[in-house]
Amino acid sequence: MIKETEQYVKTFHQGDSSGHDYSHIERVRRMALKIGRTEGADLLVVEMAALLHDTVDDKLTDEVTAWSKLENFFDKVGLEENKRDAIKHILKYMSFKGGENAGKLESLEGKVVQDADRLDAIGAIGIARTFMYAGKFGDIMYDSQIPPRDLAVANYREKTHAINHFYEKLFKLKDLMNTETGRQFAEERHQFMATFIEQFKKEWSE
Ligand code: ADP
Ligand code: NI
Repeated sequence: MIKETEQYVKTFHQGDSSGHDYSHIERVRRMALKIGRTEGADLLVVEMAALLHDTVDDKLTDEVTAWSKLENFFDKVGLEENKRDAIKHILKYMSFKGGENAGKLESLEGKVVQDADRLDAIGAIGIARTFMYAGKFGDIMYDSQIPPRDLAVANYREKTHAINHFYEKLFKLKDLMNTETGRQFAEERHQFMATFIEQFKKEWSE
């Protein structure tokens, strides 16, 4: 079942240049299993959810079609009902969505996969992914005249610049980690990002 899921997901992410290519999925899967083991989570649910986590994301695809394709896939591989529900719960609520999903993710497995996904959004790889995303969706690198928005009130899908994404989301992730293991990994990555932004702004004004 895992092998078939891998294949399904590889096909979905093929050709992505927004920082959501299959290597992102592999990193999230590996980190989720690592955290899941320490936290005593159901590792089948963790691994399947990590693999599938971006296949229903409205940034990358049409959500309605994606959910029905996913149901068909679950039927095809014969995944049992309770595992299916556990995975669907995770996929539905793990996305940051500008903060609108805060508090909705209830399962331990969900918290584990969410931490793994968030760890891939910060640190050196997080920086690289952010600029890939900005380039792909037509955002500029930086404009000191456009301040970060409060995503609780602003439309977080509106155009901005890449540097704002660090303030609007990425610097917040360290304190939003669900698990102790996740928090430990987040620390170093957060510091690296902070150093990067400091150097970026220094060079900008030299
Ligand atoms: P969400 O959880 O909000 O649906 P993701 O965690 O899937 O978003 O986003 C993954 C990564 O895509 C982010 O960590 C970041 O690197 C990039 N990204 C998302 N939105 C933006 C943006 N507005 N500007 C730059 N990068 C972005
Ligand atoms: Ni992801």
